[in-house]
Amino acid sequence: MPKLAVIGDPIEHSLSPVMFNAAFQVLGWLDWTYEKIQVKPSELKSLLPKLKSEGYIGLNVTIPHKQAMLNFFEPDTPARAIGGINAVDLRTHTGTNTDWVGLIDDLRAHSIKLKGQRILIVGAGGAARAAIYGLYQTGAHISVFNRTPERLNAVIHDFPFITPETSLNSLQNYQVILNCTPVGMYPHVDESPIPPPFRIPKSTVVYDLIYRPRQTKLMRLAAAQGCRVIGGFGMLIRQGAAAFEWWTGQPAPLEVMRMAVEKELA
Ligand SMILES: NC(=O)c1ccc[n+]([C@@H]2O[C@H](COP(=O)([O-])OP(=O)(O)OC[C@H]3O[C@@H](n4cnc5c(N)ncnc54)[C@H](OP(=O)(O)O)[C@@H]3O)[C@@H](O)[C@H]2O)c1
Repeated sequence: MPKLAVIGDPIEHSLSPVMFNAAFQVLGWLDWTYEKIQVKPSELKSLLPKLKSEGYIGLNVTIPHKQAMLNFFEPDTPARAIGGINAVDLRTHTGTNTDWVGLIDDLRAHSIKLKGQRILIVGAGGAARAAIYGLYQTGAHISVFNRTPERLNAVIHDFPFITPETSLNSLQNYQVILNCTPVGMYPHVDESPIPPPFRIPKSTVVYDLIYRPRQTKLMRLAAAQGCRVIGGFGMLIRQGAAAFEWWTGQPAPLEVMRMAVEKELA
């Protein structure tokens, strides 16, 4: 009976069990299970071998454990470059990061032009690093803004090809703006990572990695100026699908996974 789970702290709101169990069901993999497990940072070291001995074959990893997993698993090239693991295979003792795949697949699914485009990433944490890793491979020109210098400096060190952006006053210079901060996420739905009032050209695409709510304040403010806006729902599904394929070697039933999560968020 192959067992999978997502670990994090907090974890109660995770949508991963709904997404993966729907996939197993439609494929007729009735002995596969996927649960959520609340794990505190101090419990990680002892819990990982215990889960393996109980028959777990893989884990998704979410806040606050993505970086710590580098101490316990052999990262692949993206996970090493990004500096965080969001899926581990307990059979092979390896870790990967599928956030970058989820983002780039979703941008491509929305036919967003990336090559040669100027892209502003707001935020410099784990999601921003995954975005930088993925976007670099598309031939985009990447700038990063962060409210405090520490994480921005770490990003400049690890990805020396990026251009640091010192303010949010030059939004007109960018064809795509990506929110990689949690600002605007439920329950703080009246907050925006770019404080209003601001002006963005109509031709700019605004992509907010937040998926709860589906329409963030930043998206509403940008849409009111005529911009195309996209939320992080598609990225969520596609990073899960990439993990599914990494564990199983089978194509993920993307639409079924999407519909299951859609229903849960409704
Ligand atoms: N759609 C998806 O599949 C997907 C996947 C991954 C992540 N996400 C979302 O992406 C967001 C970021 O996640 P993460 O893992 O990168 O978090 P993280 O590692 O904690 O990084 C958070 C970043 O946001 C900045 N930030 C936090 N609060 C802020 C505030 N009040 N004002 C301005 N900047 C602020 C931080 O700046 P400082 O350095 O100054 O603290 C940091 O750069 C979350 O909302 C997460 O849910 C979505």
